[in-house]
Amino acid sequence: MPAISSTGLRSLSLFSGGGGLDLGFERAGFDHVASYEIMEDAAATIVKARPDWQVFGGEDGDVRNVDWKKWRRKVDVLHGGPPCQPFSHAGRQRGALDPRDMWPQFVRATLEIMPAAFVGENVSALADSKFSEYVTANILAPLSERYTIAPVTVLHAGDFGVPQVRRRVFFVGFRSKVTARRYRSPEPTHCRPNSPSGDGRRRGLGVRAALGLPDIGFDDLSPTIRSTLNGPRNTTSILNSVSAKKKFEQLAIWPNGVAMTREMAHRFVAQNGHFRLSVPDVALIQGFPDGWPFVGATYMMLGQIGNAVPPPLGYQVARAVAAALAKAA
Ligand SMILES: C[S@@+](CC[C@H](N)C(=O)[O-])C[C@H]1O[C@@H](n2cnc3c(N)ncnc32)[C@H](O)[C@@H]1O
Repeated sequence: MPAISSTGLRSLSLFSGGGGLDLGFERAGFDHVASYEIMEDAAATIVKARPDWQVFGGEDGDVRNVDWKKWRRKVDVLHGGPPCQPFSHAGRQRGALDPRDMWPQFVRATLEIMPAAFVGENVSALADSKFSEYVTANILAPLSERYTIAPVTVLHAGDFGVPQVRRRVFFVGFRSKVTARRYRSPEPTHCRPNSPSGDGRRRGLGVRAALGLPDIGFDDLSPTIRSTLNGPRNTTSILNSVSAKKKFEQLAIWPNGVAMTREMAHRFVAQNGHFRLSVPDVALIQGFPDGWPFVGATYMMLGQIGNAVPPPLGYQVARAVAAALAKAA
């Protein structure tokens, strides 16, 4: 993620979590206007990482309480990933019936601020046919009254150099039809570790190589890491599924009992001798730079990481949006 110098474009972030998407936008040359995040620890992470940013956390960060009109003419791009639990395969998939569904708030903020563009993000399950009526009625229809929306795209973090299987759906819209026509969803920058052909792209690292672990004759992308905020209370396991368990076994990586620091992970060797992960390792698997200062207990740090858009993926989407807006200027 080479840092791009300021494009002069201003971005405002909703549902900012520990700042994955915010970081991608910053590196892509956006000037940060504000972040809104209801979880105190997550907001504190962003404050610690970027003390000069305007961050609204806790009650002040609850998007349901904000009159967004005050940000009119002050924001070029609004971005955010509303909570994914109402749509995730790991949950009950109740969509609009789930009180955690915050897409109506994303839509309200966009229509009150009327930025030049918006970027909404979520788990790829939201692109399943099961939710097509939900998406049309609650996202596309209200926003398309004022915006031209690009084809909805599912992107895979492994195509952008992140050592993890992670798919995310992106909704991108522009107020100007001309700008919308110029927008191109980002093309993969990397090929995946075990893919047969690279098409001239850089080959992404497997998770063992990314973590600097010794060669065991096998490597691959990490399975999708789960947010520990969605699992059993205070869990420190990032395991998502039975197939993920098998893959971690092949990789000789232990995904349970993730330690807060690398030193603690080394001290408590997993029973089967596999490599025990630490918070900085999981952050690396999610594409965060070393030292991103997550705040809170171990499960809370892992929750912020597991909830995040991998910054290198957010960066490519942000660059694509900036390119379309720059051409329109
Ligand atoms: C999927 S995470 C977003 C992660 C973020 N985009 C990133 O890349 O790090 C959704 C976030 O929405 C926050 N959230 C849920 N309800 C909210 C509300 N009413 N107001 C503000 N934030 C809320 C959650 O605490 C969670 O951090």
